[in-house]
Amino acid sequence: MARKKDQPVIDKDKIPRHVAIIMDGNGRWAKKRFIPRTMGHRAGMASLKKVVKACDELGIAILTVFAFSTENWKRPSDEVNYLMQLLAEFMRKELDELHQNNVRIQVLGDYRAMPADCRIEIKRALEMTRANTGLIFNIALNYGARQEIMDAAKQLAAQIAAGEIKAEEVNEEIFSRLLYTKGMPDPDLLIRSSGEKRISNFMLWQIAYTELVVTDTLWPDFSEIDLIRAVIEYQQRDRKFGGLSK
Ligand code: FPP
Repeated sequence: MARKKDQPVIDKDKIPRHVAIIMDGNGRWAKKRFIPRTMGHRAGMASLKKVVKACDELGIAILTVFAFSTENWKRPSDEVNYLMQLLAEFMRKELDELHQNNVRIQVLGDYRAMPADCRIEIKRALEMTRANTGLIFNIALNYGARQEIMDAAKQLAAQIAAGEIKAEEVNEEIFSRLLYTKGMPDPDLLIRSSGEKRISNFMLWQIAYTELVVTDTLWPDFSEIDLIRAVIEYQQRDRKFGGLSK
């Protein structure tokens, strides 16, 4: 595709370290085609596969995707079951290639609530890729940011009660270490597909200074090009972190 004059190009020296994605719009994509919502999720899985590869190729260090929220259990059981099966299938089919590409898979959230076959696939993926040093691929599963923050607060309260730390010593760094993302930098860029301008209980602590890009593209239509566009938009932002422009 020929590049138009003045059309911005990606700056390889300003690649975001951590990209988070709310993969939204699978249901609407399916509705537009008069096919079941589940088919939208399946098409969404194909997009995810392409995006993981593209992130790796761009040199993004961490990709975090919102795959299943603590609130998604409210959906009809058929849809929930389908999503669980899809997740197990994704792990089964993609694990070898991800491992070969040195991708480290991690799960954010309490996946003990998932069905047994899903848990087995997840455990296998975590164990197999544990020592990999390439792209960190975080899958948020049964994830809710309020739950994550509350869990951290409970752990901290227990540590204070046990005399391991004093309340007045608690700071943001200590608190961050109790979150599922411990040791990882906060997302630089959060992308939400399908036009909704909401955070939906995703990474509430970590996105304090994250740049948000909302695209109208429905997740199953989201491609490498959309990812590159979002990165270029991010690169044009003036990040001030509450201070002044450099
Ligand atoms: C939101 O679309 C999407 C989800 C709740 C699930 C995301 C899941 C995938 C992309 C499938 C593959 C994931 C893995 C990890 C294998 P929606 O159903 O809310 O869409 P709508 O708002 O248009 O109804």
